[in-house]
Amino acid sequence: MKVNIKKHTMMYPAPAVVASAYDSEGNADACTLAFATMCSHHPPAVMIAINSTLKRKTLKSILQTNEFCLAFPSADQAAEADYLGIESGYNADKLAKINYHHHKAEKVNAPIIDEFKVSLECKVMHIAEVGSHTQITGEIVNVQADEDVLDEKNRIVFEKLDPLVYDDITHSYFKTGEKISDAFKVGLKFKKE
Ligand SMILES: Cc1cc2nc3c(=O)[nH]c(=O)nc-3n(C[C@H](O)[C@H](O)[C@H](O)COP(=O)(O)O)c2cc1C
Repeated sequence: MKVNIKKHTMMYPAPAVVASAYDSEGNADACTLAFATMCSHHPPAVMIAINSTLKRKTLKSILQTNEFCLAFPSADQAAEADYLGIESGYNADKLAKINYHHHKAEKVNAPIIDEFKVSLECKVMHIAEVGSHTQITGEIVNVQADEDVLDEKNRIVFEKLDPLVYDDITHSYFKTGEKISDAFKVGLKFKKE
């Protein structure tokens, strides 16, 4: 039997990703986000949503520079990603606190955090105020990845990246499981019938 449960923002699975941008003095800001997804193939684009109260220093910096990077933490980086989501750049040099380093991205003026294995370089292409959050769509203009998470065709190997998963209902981090089937193929059996 189905029951109605409490309304809550949700998406399964949801990631925990890290957005980064430079502030007006060139300091690197970074904060953890669960509100993030892909949203266009041509051009390749992702969308993030950050609470609009401007208490988030990273949002202020993204809106000032119109550029940001988005990194995918691995499951073994849960503690570092969590810290970037519970402290503000207004109070601490967060990257220094977790002993993480950064360099300027290649195609945008935003910091790439060295310790995260994959980072998207994004230029802001659209901004919308949606309820409590500022929704920012970023065109992906470059992607930097550590060689050790790539296959021979330079594609990201999901299991090697081992991306961090987040559950906003219980405030918990998860690891993904193993590959179960090929997309666009496993459903073909129903098409043929
Ligand atoms: C797992 C996790 C997910 C989060 N997701 C979001 C989010 O999607 N949007 C948002 O505005 N804040 C989110 N936060 C909170 C920000 O990361 C947090 O307010 C952070 O301290 C902001 O840092 P800043 O002021 O340096 O930008 C999340 C925090 C955690 C721990």
